[in-house]
Amino acid sequence: MSDKLWIFDTTLRDGEQVPGCQLNTQEKIVVAKALEELGVDIIEAGFPISSPGDFNSVVEISKAVSNPIICALSRAVEKDIEVAAQALKFAKKGRIHTGIGVSPYHIQYKLRSTPDEIIQRGVAAVKFAKQFVEDVEFYAEDAGRSEPDFLCKIIEEVIKAGATVVNIPDTTGYCLPEQYGGIIADLKNRVPNIDRAIISTHCHNDLGMATANTVAGVQNGARQVEVTINGIGERAGNTSMEEVVMAIKCHQAIPVHTDIVTQKIYYTSRLVSKLMNMPVQPNKAIVGRNAFAHSSGIHQDGVLKHRENYEIIDPKEVGVEESSIVLTARSGRAALKHHLDALGVELEGDELRKVYEAFLELADSKRDIGRKDLLSLVGKYLDESNFIELQEVSYSSNGEVKANVKLKIGDTSHQASATGVGPVDAVLTAIEKMVQPQVDLEEFLIQAMTHGSNDVAKVHMRVIKSDKPYHGFASNEDIVLASAQAFVDALNKIPVKEYATA
Ligand code: KIV
Ligand code: ZN
Repeated sequence: MSDKLWIFDTTLRDGEQVPGCQLNTQEKIVVAKALEELGVDIIEAGFPISSPGDFNSVVEISKAVSNPIICALSRAVEKDIEVAAQALKFAKKGRIHTGIGVSPYHIQYKLRSTPDEIIQRGVAAVKFAKQFVEDVEFYAEDAGRSEPDFLCKIIEEVIKAGATVVNIPDTTGYCLPEQYGGIIADLKNRVPNIDRAIISTHCHNDLGMATANTVAGVQNGARQVEVTINGIGERAGNTSMEEVVMAIKCHQAIPVHTDIVTQKIYYTSRLVSKLMNMPVQPNKAIVGRNAFAHSSGIHQDGVLKHRENYEIIDPKEVGVEESSIVLTARSGRAALKHHLDALGVELEGDELRKVYEAFLELADSKRDIGRKDLLSLVGKYLDESNFIELQEVSYSSNGEVKANVKLKIGDTSHQASATGVGPVDAVLTAIEKMVQPQVDLEEFLIQAMTHGSNDVAKVHMRVIKSDKPYHGFASNEDIVLASAQAFVDALNKIPVKEYATA
């Protein structure tokens, strides 16, 4: 059995620090519950000393959530730690996260201190926190730029003082994966009591290395990762949870597993993005709009033949319904056919080739090709080779509704009248009279395309002939005319040889 990798989510602390991402307590509870459902092990719920709102959020999240450990941040300052402990009083399992800067920059310029004093302050903070909770995590801020010997020393001392977890942040996102992995390996090899604590990663993304550094940390012995949903966080963000979790799931050679319910990843990502007003970039790994979208012809053909040709993750595994085959001017015939099939329009050979040519022309001038475009493309193409032509439609309703329709079928003109429960019914019955043998009208759908007095109706019709479905589409401001056109459109898709005209 592989080691458990503890997932420490800091969306509500490091993520929420981002300008514009602030949430109120109710919203934080919604996110915390979603994180619980997702299966995270630790929720860093806030920095209680920073504001009454943050204090209150930690209190309320502690009440609302049962399974994850609730963690509260503090500096290595007694007052901070006391307030964090108070905020955690309702937590079923509470953790205080305390720490201090350890890089030469932080020691000299931020804290104006000395290495020895930093060790003393770190140790004192851990000991003080231990009076309130058993579970104390120590963060060595800016460990990514620290002196290796000093880092080993302070980590050894805080573990002696009782730290259960030691967090090694690359606070400025400076490290390369090999360096960061090396720091973790160094701690594993050189700190004599390191087995008494869990090593945690906490990587920022200033060079776009956060996920790579985190994975390198895990490969070198870290067993907790500090992450955020969608990678939100200070500046370029924190390590994104979805990326680390899926990287670990995809690479069985990394000897760890997580308890994340991956099928809930996409939902949680959207929830956080919406509540925090923070859009997810379209090409974001795992959760971006394009993460499972294929747009070039070669890829589309490949993915339609066998999904794994171009996908390393089944989208369902992260809660995305299915991969999408996006229609653009780079799409191939396989993609077009895939979309037409989904619309119930089955085209092969020459028919498909003609529609594909028209599609390429349209795609060159239009960025997004949607369902509506496809339908009109198919309609346009079929209109051009119409065997049945709708020539005239009229109706009256003096007591009973009566319609009169003229069709040209092949080279012959036909005319028929019929009554009905309404004008659409009367018109369709008149058409049916002229077309033999009859077809079964299986589905008839009218939708409004615009909203206003000149509403355009879009009609979709599905008819069955010799057990095969044929679809007709039309749009017109006149709903009766749109229905007649859609019916004739469907009839025109039936092979001519099937007809015997009346
Ligand atoms: O990036 C960092 O160093 C932090 C610590 C406070 C854990 O967020
Ligand atoms: Zn951070």
